[in-house]
Amino acid sequence: MNALVAVAERAGPWRDAFAARLPAMRFHLWPDDAPPEVDVALVWKPDPEAFRRVRVKRAIFNLGAGVDALLSLPTLPRGVPVVRLEDAGMAEQMAEYAVLVVLRAFRDAAHYERAQRDGRWAPLARRDKAAFGVGILGAGLLGQAVARALGPFGFPLAAWSRRPHDIPGVASFAGRASLDAFLARSAVVIGLLPSTPATRGLLGAAAFAAMPRGGEVVNLGRGDLIVEPDLIAALDSGRLGHATLDVFGAEPLSPDHPFWHHPGITITPHVSAVTRIAESVEQVAAKLEALARGEPVSGAVDRASGY
Ligand code: NAP
Ligand code: GLV
Repeated sequence: MNALVAVAERAGPWRDAFAARLPAMRFHLWPDDAPPEVDVALVWKPDPEAFRRVRVKRAIFNLGAGVDALLSLPTLPRGVPVVRLEDAGMAEQMAEYAVLVVLRAFRDAAHYERAQRDGRWAPLARRDKAAFGVGILGAGLLGQAVARALGPFGFPLAAWSRRPHDIPGVASFAGRASLDAFLARSAVVIGLLPSTPATRGLLGAAAFAAMPRGGEVVNLGRGDLIVEPDLIAALDSGRLGHATLDVFGAEPLSPDHPFWHHPGITITPHVSAVTRIAESVEQVAAKLEALARGEPVSGAVDRASGY
């Protein structure tokens, strides 16, 4: 088998890692070493021209979990299966991030940081944990990892997805009709949804109004989940207490974006779960070996659903 490596950043290290793991396979680096056809393409935010110049015969492997950027490419060949990364070291990172943010919110960390800056001794009453629901939008590999990590802390947990999921200790809400009930019990809402036509703009004024007053939104999936002006309005009015955002409608966030200096917003630059080359190469290499043996591989994307 041969493969095209078309990766926007760190392309050389990806190619070298694949070549070291699968020495019998030929890896061509886009654009300089692009052959007219390959068995598979290994891509992350590829140059759209790559699919015009190189015919991919068997599969396209997305070197990330989210496939929104790839599926939006007009040059993406139809009829070729797209396979995404499954966890590959990202679930652990998402769990770390979510636990950090939820515990900060529950223990009023921002209040005590402000009080210390002002030299104020300002104890707050302990929050009622039974009333501090944590809702995870998305019950996929990353959402479930977050639920497992939060489990031991005893918050009432819920997850929202398209289809119901039976996750121990996590109330399952499925489908649009259940969204308001899910939001109403979530003091913290953690977005771990893919960007699809059905999820874009899901968290806007109506969703924020359905949450408990003063709640927190944490977005770790894709930025277009949130209607940005509605988020600012909800924070300014006190409807929401805080937002922690790792992903944005346009990245990098422009220097003059109002989010940067909003006192109710904490920003990280799309680092809640970074792609790790070693784990990702190992996962994809095992799937390439399975393909070569004629076996099916997991992680196939349903293009109609967009994830
Ligand atoms: P996944 O396993 O495919 O899970 C996606 C979840 O979203 C599933 O539970 C799915 O429901 C649910 N979902 C999709 N469309 C929905 C809709 N219209 N209504 C309700 N639920 C819907 O994906 P994952 O591996 O957990 O990754 C989730 C996303 O995280 C990725 O797509 C990517 O955009 C993002 N991500 C971000 C970073 C970062 O650093 N910020 C890193 C990695 C990934 P069902 O279970 O019913 O199918
Ligand atoms: C990162 O955002 C990914 O989708 O892997």
